Amino acid sequence: MRDVAGKQTGTAGHAGHAVHKKKSGGAFNRETVREVQHYTDRLFRFRTTRDPHFRFVSGQFAMIGLEVEGKPLLRAYSMASANYEDDLEFFSIKVPDGPLTSRLQYLKVGDTVLVGRKPTGTLVQPNLLHGKRLYMFSTGTGVAPFSAILKDPEVYDLYDKLILVHGCREVAELQYGVDTVATARANEFFGDIVTEKLIHYPTVTREAYVHQGRITDLIESGKLFADIGQPPLNPDEDRVMICGSPELLRDLVGMLEARGFREGSGGDPASYVIEKAFAEA
Ligand code: A2P
Repeated sequence: MRDVAGKQTGTAGHAGHAVHKKKSGGAFNRETVREVQHYTDRLFRFRTTRDPHFRFVSGQFAMIGLEVEGKPLLRAYSMASANYEDDLEFFSIKVPDGPLTSRLQYLKVGDTVLVGRKPTGTLVQPNLLHGKRLYMFSTGTGVAPFSAILKDPEVYDLYDKLILVHGCREVAELQYGVDTVATARANEFFGDIVTEKLIHYPTVTREAYVHQGRITDLIESGKLFADIGQPPLNPDEDRVMICGSPELLRDLVGMLEARGFREGSGGDPASYVIEKAFAEA
């Protein structure tokens, strides 16, 4: 296990850069695939080795890809593994004619993946003001950065409750989030605090399931808050991170702004932050 790197701020990339000057090989580390798991015909995850100098803050992303005809072919991917794990994990969509993911879906143990050395991103705690509850709203592979965040024990010190809302079309697409939450709850060091503070709310739109409906509709109707026993969204107490499709981002941001939430950034922390779910091709 590594040190928990939650105390780092957005300078992780710069720190990594200084270290990597000593090495040759340019802007990427060449990592080896250690594990691949397919969930559906649209979703899979893979784990790779991790350069010991590659550090990141929970919620950040890096450029990931393959060398194709001698050139790097890259897309942004959130790190889904916790920042203290020895491996890196990524959760990916498969697009049949997508330049990268049409190839990436055939990854096998032992293959090489390029991992950019400068992690970055907005879904980090310094971009948010202090709050009582952290809502993490995601669709599809947008759950990936939250997988890292909910395995970061330092985030639990900042909030009374963390609420992961994951919306997908089908039940099978929720499995990655279900597995991640189970892993965090079972952690031998901080599993108790996860069990106490983390609320997981998976919902689907195209099948029967315990929770059904789009995230936006569940907020608007108040059903989400009734189901989880929390008050409706309030910018004085709630902090929100969103990662999902452009449509989700657009609609949810509109709803948040109408409720008095304001987008935060590194220099100007506020009540919500957003990131598009990456690698749509
Ligand atoms: P729906 O099935 O009603 O389109 P996708 O796989 O297309 O990225 O969608 C993932 C999930 O996000 C689906 O459950 C989808 O619902 C939902 N979704 C799509 N657009 C929006 C939106 N504008 N607001 C909230 N949820 C959305």
